[in-house]
Amino acid sequence: MKPKVYIIGAGPGDPELLTLKAYRILSQADVILYADSLVPKQILQDVRPDAELIRTGNKTLEDIVPLMIDRVKQNLTVVRLHSGDLTLYSAIAEQMKQLLEAGIAFELIPGISAFQAAAAKLSTELTVPELVQTIILTRVSGQASAVPDTEDLASLAAHQASLCLYLAARHVEKSQAKLLQHYPPDTTVAICFRIGWQDEKIWLVNLEDMASVSQENNLIRTTLYIISPALGKVTDARSRLYHPEHSHLFRLSGFC
Ligand SMILES: C[S@@+](CC[C@H](N)C(=O)[O-])C[C@H]1O[C@@H](n2cnc3c(N)ncnc32)[C@H](O)[C@@H]1O
Repeated sequence: MKPKVYIIGAGPGDPELLTLKAYRILSQADVILYADSLVPKQILQDVRPDAELIRTGNKTLEDIVPLMIDRVKQNLTVVRLHSGDLTLYSAIAEQMKQLLEAGIAFELIPGISAFQAAAAKLSTELTVPELVQTIILTRVSGQASAVPDTEDLASLAAHQASLCLYLAARHVEKSQAKLLQHYPPDTTVAICFRIGWQDEKIWLVNLEDMASVSQENNLIRTTLYIISPALGKVTDARSRLYHPEHSHLFRLSGFC
């Protein structure tokens, strides 16, 4: 492997949800920096015994980026592991900017996001014909990042889409109140705690109980909420894609 930084989405926690590419690079890397609060140790079970493992939970960007630059300059391959997929709340933009400025090569490897792993655990499709055809991935403002006013949770709730709410456990009362402005109180919410970890738990509750159940169970982190008309509903509607009367390029109607 070339000495560069591989920025990898590690998935939600289950090592078997790493992509083959992520697994191969991880098992060959010289240096691995990982966000220890969101990436469980099991993800590192097959790394080289002599790999340098650096936890980043207690480090700042000012500590992390120079470490990566230093190791690549020593001709080492570096993995920077983030949880889930890199497109969501991974704070990689600022790391890539500094690596670019330092002339350090990097490559991104995507991962499975928490919402995808949670939907699989729930045995659900979040887009159901004639019921809901849109998925919104969002969060609420926290100490570190503010959500733009144009993306306020109440305005997103107005679509009554399948809504996957990240980083909200500490703000669950406020979130519930905003969601209730548009979703009916008996809309099913899946409260998904540490999906893919050994202590994973899922509660299926009505929206009006989302905050109280979270608080009773002391959920303050690593919790994803899925609010969706698709949850808990059995429908007869079906997609046209596999319908016998629907033809497309690979299956002409009447010929299959
Ligand atoms: C900093 S964000 C990272 C999201 C990650 N990039 C992804 O695609 O899943 C952390 C938030 O993602 C959600 N999350 C990440 N991993 C999770 C898991 N294993 N189970 C439930 N929620 C998870 C929680 O909402 C958590 O507060």
